[in-house]
Amino acid sequence: MYNSKISGLGFYVPENIVTNDDLSKIMDTNDEWIQERTGIQQRRHVIRGEDTTTSMGVKAAKIAIERAGITAQDIDFVVFATLSPDYYFPGPGVLVQRDLGMRTVGALDVRNQCSGFVYAISIADQYIKTGMYKNVLVIGSELHSGGLDMTTRGRGVSVIFGDGAGAAVLTREEDTKKGILSTHLHAEGQHAEELALIAPGMGKRWVTDIIAENDPNDESYYPYMNGQFVFKNAVVRFSEVINEGLKANDLQVSDIDMLIPHQANLRISQFIQQKFKLADDKVYNNIQKYGNTTAASIPIALTEAWEQGKIKEGDLVVLAAFGSGFTWGSVIVRW
Ligand code: UT7
Repeated sequence: MYNSKISGLGFYVPENIVTNDDLSKIMDTNDEWIQERTGIQQRRHVIRGEDTTTSMGVKAAKIAIERAGITAQDIDFVVFATLSPDYYFPGPGVLVQRDLGMRTVGALDVRNQCSGFVYAISIADQYIKTGMYKNVLVIGSELHSGGLDMTTRGRGVSVIFGDGAGAAVLTREEDTKKGILSTHLHAEGQHAEELALIAPGMGKRWVTDIIAENDPNDESYYPYMNGQFVFKNAVVRFSEVINEGLKANDLQVSDIDMLIPHQANLRISQFIQQKFKLADDKVYNNIQKYGNTTAASIPIALTEAWEQGKIKEGDLVVLAAFGSGFTWGSVIVRW
């Protein structure tokens, strides 16, 4: 048996900054409401034609691969997490495989929204642990801005989300006390529609219905979120799954050197921090700058924390996520 370790990290966000004041010019919202409820000050939106979910993922991946000290030719498998793929099908995994000029390695797409990166890491880790692959590229990338209701009707959702991508290379580690110690995944499909984008899909609203009805005011084109219900579930599940990961490794909260929570809402991160009584330098947040980038939020935050020297060899790093599905999970890493 082997472990896997994170050998390279990278992120990319589009240059175009959209502030809360910018949003207040196109919908009935304001900086005070957004900051008070979410902590978000600004987010990035792509310039149409300049970036896609895949292209952002590729940019982040190039940095991660270089930092891992390998080339795209050394990657044995790709796992791509997103809720905003370039195409309905095929998924962006194969586009990355093509755009990075890789060998004909397998490419898998993960559909787990805010927990997507944690799920993707778990998959990559299993392939490496069994000895099947040596280097796996894991990407989380989202292009939200092309699919949000940017009118007052959609303000409860659209002010929160931003665009961006993060990537990690997972590499075989012979020392099983190092690297990814364990991953913990959960789902509760009972609440699938509490945070969802229903159309187009082959359940309630077929593509053929949408074309036939051609109704630009149809709300089902846009993401729906029962914000308070999601919030209440998030704080409970985040806590549970962090505790589960610590317990599985005989670790205590006091062993945590860095917690990287999915950047859903600064208030959620602060709630978790207070509950676990973690000092400010043991929790990394950047939702203030980027908003909620779903599957990209953990790899962007992890990369930034690492770049700023906040994660050092030997540190215990905990990743935790919760989101649409509902799905949630954690990753316990000895750096
Ligand atoms: O990453 C996936 C997981 N997602 C999450 O974890 C998100 C969890 N939920 C949340 O973060 C919060 O529920 C939100 C930030 C989404 C919303 O905050 P809230 O405190 O739950 O607000 P609310 O939805 O209850 O809305 C309160 C009021 C409403 O007005 P009335 O009915 O009280 O008059 C909304 O219409 O705020 C209004 N409102 C806004 N006002 C200004 C909603 N959105 C906005 C807005 N600007 N953007």
